[in-house]
Amino acid sequence: MEFNIKAGAPDRLASGCIAVGVFDKRRLAPAAESLDRAARGHLRDVLKRGDMDGRAGTARLLLDAPHLACDRVLLVGLGRESEFGAKQYRDAVRGAVNVIADTGARDAHLCFPELHIAGKDMVWKLRHAAIATADALYQFEQMKSKKSPARRLRSVTFMQPGRSPTGARGLAQGRAIAAGMALARDLGNLPANVCTPTYLAEQAAQLGKSWKLGVQVLERRDMERLGMGSLLSVARGSRQPPKLIVLRYNGAAKRDKPVVLVGKGITFDTGGISLKPAGEMDEMKYDMCGAASVLGTLRAVAEMKLACNVVGVIPASENMPGGAATRPGDIVTSMSGQTVEILNTDAEGRLILCDALTYAERFKPQAVIDIATLTGACVVALGNVATGLFSNQDTLAEELLEAGADAWDRAWHLPLWDDYQEQLKSPFADVANIGGRPAGSVTAACFLSRFAESYRWAHLDIAGTAWVSGKNKGATGRPVPMLSTFLIGRSGKQD
Ligand code: BES
Ligand code: MN
Ligand code: ZN
Repeated sequence: MEFNIKAGAPDRLASGCIAVGVFDKRRLAPAAESLDRAARGHLRDVLKRGDMDGRAGTARLLLDAPHLACDRVLLVGLGRESEFGAKQYRDAVRGAVNVIADTGARDAHLCFPELHIAGKDMVWKLRHAAIATADALYQFEQMKSKKSPARRLRSVTFMQPGRSPTGARGLAQGRAIAAGMALARDLGNLPANVCTPTYLAEQAAQLGKSWKLGVQVLERRDMERLGMGSLLSVARGSRQPPKLIVLRYNGAAKRDKPVVLVGKGITFDTGGISLKPAGEMDEMKYDMCGAASVLGTLRAVAEMKLACNVVGVIPASENMPGGAATRPGDIVTSMSGQTVEILNTDAEGRLILCDALTYAERFKPQAVIDIATLTGACVVALGNVATGLFSNQDTLAEELLEAGADAWDRAWHLPLWDDYQEQLKSPFADVANIGGRPAGSVTAACFLSRFAESYRWAHLDIAGTAWVSGKNKGATGRPVPMLSTFLIGRSGKQD
């Protein structure tokens, strides 16, 4: 899909479809006004006849509106003007694109950037217009033998009220973030028999080639030499060899400390010997969405050419039962030297992440952020709306919360108090890998915090936000928008 910007009013445009907003009740937004004038009151007539009143979530397609050079006009309900904000803006774009994609239009012009949203500038509006458009058009058909017929819609142009150079920057960011999200979604949606640790490593290598990233893949024997006994204990039950994938993006001076992103890459989580129940187990192919978000974010960062250094670290493994699999009660030694009693082999995410977190020390990071579909408890607590956020530094947490709010990819700060560490006591090892039912997401984060003491660190539990279940099952590409926005904010700075 091609995205463009155009300045000015839409009244003389030859276009497959022009989408304009209507507020509740029946109040035309400026672009709609100008079309209405050119069409000698036709839009107002439609409103008067009661075919569109501007309620949010509604849309009305007009064919062959008189005196206009465009084939179609799409009236999009924006809801009440006083309630119009970031969410309504994104919904309007998505709603419009959904309708237009089903028409015969080859190109479309969307007139939403003119709408006022408190606290948001043209950069934000163009960035989000591109992301919402790409999000609405996303399809995953790699595994179907018969593809749905190709869409006619080839190009989407966002109409800007005036000539503002900042819009172009927003659009470029939106394009890059949308492409990163699409990559993360594709990897997440692929089944686990295709998307194995080896496949993830190959995809990382390809990404490296396309975007000039340094890529290194550590094999089982490399991890053995490093003493990653915890990570390796998870891979024992699987025929698939584990990988530790390292990617580097250098957009700033060498001496600038990098942000390290660590992504959980369990390509399938059966639970291991602590086997999961059968219901919805297929969704455990999404247990590598943290890894996918690291790859997607690196792609976005590279396309935006951000002035920062970013390292991606992806511990990748399957979690399977098998003759050699780890048993409940087994004790392993992590790379940090801490011993772990594995009381439940289904709490495997923290076992691969802890060694990756220790490995991250060698990059002398300004901050480390891990991203993981870590706990079912996080889904119970926050559903599929907010990502769970934990940090050993409040200013880093604030920064991520703000990036998430700006990206409409929101997180909620949860506690990491010492009181919870008690639950991880083991009679036989330094730490147990589970802390019982109460506060399951917190104790998982507490476990990780023991391996992240030497740097500023945040943990994103994306168990509820990385994919949606049900009729529209699929990966969401979150938290690529939050992380990309965070890195836009960090680039060009050094602390
Ligand atoms: N990948 C799962 C977490 C998960 C479960 C994410 C369901 C999304 C939906 C993780 O590896 C896991 O199994 N966690 C256990 C931990 C427990 C054994 C302490 C869980 O949440 O049940
Ligand atoms: Mn598990
Ligand atoms: Zn898991």
